[in-house]
Amino acid sequence: MTGQVRGAQLARLLGQWHALPGRRRSPDYAALASAVRGLLSDARLPLGVRLPAERELAEALRISRTTVTAAYRALRETGHLASRRGAGSWTMLPGTHRVASTGLWTPLDDREMIDLGVAALAAPPQLLGAARAATEDLPRYLGGAGYHPTGIIELREAVADGYAARGLPTSADQIMVTSGTQHALDLVLRLALAPGGNVLVESPTYPNALAALAGRRARITTHGLSVDGGGWEPDLLLGSLRQTRPKLAYLIPEFQNPTGHLMPATLRERVVAAAHAVGTDLIIDESFVDLPLDGTELPPPVAAYDRHSRVISIGGMSKPYWGGLRIGWVRASAPQVQRLAAARVGVDMASPVLDQLVAVHLLADAAAIVADRRAQLAAQRDALLGALADRLPDWRVTVPRGGVTLWAELDGPVSSALARAAEEVGVRLAPGPRFGLDGTLERFLRLPFTLPAADLVEAVGRIAAVRYDLDRTGPQRWREPTVIA
Ligand SMILES: Cc1ncc(COP(=O)(O)O)c(C=O)c1O
Repeated sequence: MTGQVRGAQLARLLGQWHALPGRRRSPDYAALASAVRGLLSDARLPLGVRLPAERELAEALRISRTTVTAAYRALRETGHLASRRGAGSWTMLPGTHRVASTGLWTPLDDREMIDLGVAALAAPPQLLGAARAATEDLPRYLGGAGYHPTGIIELREAVADGYAARGLPTSADQIMVTSGTQHALDLVLRLALAPGGNVLVESPTYPNALAALAGRRARITTHGLSVDGGGWEPDLLLGSLRQTRPKLAYLIPEFQNPTGHLMPATLRERVVAAAHAVGTDLIIDESFVDLPLDGTELPPPVAAYDRHSRVISIGGMSKPYWGGLRIGWVRASAPQVQRLAAARVGVDMASPVLDQLVAVHLLADAAAIVADRRAQLAAQRDALLGALADRLPDWRVTVPRGGVTLWAELDGPVSSALARAAEEVGVRLAPGPRFGLDGTLERFLRLPFTLPAADLVEAVGRIAAVRYDLDRTGPQRWREPTVIA
């Protein structure tokens, strides 16, 4: 949505709409609709703007509301208008429909939509101060060319210190700064995986990791996580490693996305030993490591059990700080970091210096920022759990002790249908099958608690309303993707 046009403005644009050619043969509503189409086709009325409410336009044009209602209906029928109950009507052109984006991850510029497809917080208030301080530091770098393929030394040191504080001594030359954790994953895959290589992942897992693996044409084996209990089934996980002997395993041990599970220390140790025994390298995604809730104690990092450079850890600023910073990193052996940097110059050369300086300032204030984030997330999680218990009591959820998402088991295999129906009432959802490989997981839904509590409660109310509608209308209605804008 790019803006709104008021009744008086539209009336001005419409001008003598009632005197257009053909006017005598068509009813008022059709003439009005046709005039709006004319404005759209010659771009005097932009696409994606919200039209005035029916009553407002009726008053501005001094015609009956019924005429405007009928005109809007006619425009919807010809694909020139999209409406959503309670949110308004937007202009569009036929053929420019946005297909229901239950599979898309980028938030669209639609401020009416409650977006539960993205599991990330808005920026912390400290970000602006950090950005200002970073510009003060910038002159120190302006004398050089600005390319630092492994990252600026201050940030690498700050990240290394973070590992040391978690009990894992790390030097700056073991850190490579990337443009986000996803970039880190992609680079590691480029280096460590030949096309067609075998990779073990959790199921469910982070969909964009699956996308990165698909980009390398990986052959993927999955380890199914249980919903409740510990998540990982140790014997099955170790058995899979021994049987399939993958080149790589990609795991999210801290507050796994989407389930929220935390891998215990004993299993970490056993996974590292088993991986070494079968020649598997481990990519450990630590995106949520800074976000334990309820005072949950963290086990040692997986890399703490590694004596053979089998573990490559990746992480970044997106979850505790802000996704818009695009700062992530790899922790590996110093030679591996050098190889990654050499691979990187064929991709994007280096990360932006200014953003890295912002990250340095945020990390200097980590204790305070992260404490605020945890408190915020715990309160939002509790609001979400409360709303679910209230409105969707048949759904089963395990209370996550960290991270930003919960994984709900629904009362039927309706996740994709529900996501499509929810989109029509202004809630974007990430349905279960997005987190797996083979269209399974229809009984599950990931729900992030990264939005304000009031939005979460409102979203659950809307989801509950369409959930019960699904039963009334039967599953057939949702087979075809619904088109909305
Ligand atoms: C497990 C996991 N890895 C990686 C990412 C991507 O993070 P970034 O924004 O740092 O690229 C995310 C973001 O949701 C994530 O959940």
